[in-house]
Amino acid sequence: MIKVSAPGKLHLLGEHSAVYGKPAILTSVNLRLTVTISASVNPVFNRELIQLKKIIEPIIKKQLEIETLPNYQLVISSQIPIGSGLGSSAAVCAAYIGALLCFLEVKWDLSLINRLSYEAEKVFQGNPSGGDNSTVVYGGLVWFRKESVDLKLIQPLSFTIPSKLSKKFIFINTGKPKEITADMVKLVRELAKKKPKVVEKFLADQEKLVKELLPTIKEGNEQEFVRIIREGERNLETIGVVSKTVRSMIRKIEAIGGAAKISGAGGKIGGAGVVLTFHPDKAKLLKLIKSDNLPYFTADLGVEGLKIES
Ligand code: MEV
Repeated sequence: MIKVSAPGKLHLLGEHSAVYGKPAILTSVNLRLTVTISASVNPVFNRELIQLKKIIEPIIKKQLEIETLPNYQLVISSQIPIGSGLGSSAAVCAAYIGALLCFLEVKWDLSLINRLSYEAEKVFQGNPSGGDNSTVVYGGLVWFRKESVDLKLIQPLSFTIPSKLSKKFIFINTGKPKEITADMVKLVRELAKKKPKVVEKFLADQEKLVKELLPTIKEGNEQEFVRIIREGERNLETIGVVSKTVRSMIRKIEAIGGAAKISGAGGKIGGAGVVLTFHPDKAKLLKLIKSDNLPYFTADLGVEGLKIES
């Protein structure tokens, strides 16, 4: 029996602009998805697993140049909410591919698993940047930039978010968006055709902010962090990926001195998935979240990436 787990991911900044070759900073988050594979004569698969198998197996067969695979039973358990910007699809692709390669006795190779996970993510997401799968595979804090179709700069950073910052994060689940990531990426692509200036400005501003965010995280500069997250969020709003209800929730957090932003693709109409919130005085933020009855959680960031559990 082989068990492989992958963490979730969060975009600190750079979602959407990453699709256009701009940098993004992502972190792994300590919500894990586990895939267990064991040899089985009569494996049973539900509809969802059959769909997943249809995506993953051809990628593995092509890579290993084999036509058939031995029978196996697949079990998936996950703490990562689906479709909420926490990288659930990247985690399932990476953990499944990692587990299946192990089961086939292929040497553990994160770079190979990441490359194949990107192939699988393309089926889910259409035109992903590759940032999500890279973060769940390598873990920690990641600087990501898609340079071209075949070249991605994936730089796992040598530092993690200092606890001075990370202990003041609270994550609010604003609900699963009506749209999937591929829809949101398409929406931005269409906006770029209709209003190129708006998207060009968004890309340039987001790139500048992501570059400023790096030393800010390293130094644990709270004031700068608040400014960058606020500006990054406003920028995301200019491309229409943050719904009205989520925007007004974010304005309330800003009004008490905090900062908040969507993390991932966002949502146009209803929920926008998990929103990252931060306040130098966490108690104030918690008070607001509780009085507004918002579903929230906290989680460790920068945890280990893909790993063999047993
Ligand atoms: C999705 O988690 C993040 C996006 O930037 C898409 C991508 O990078 O592939 C919206």
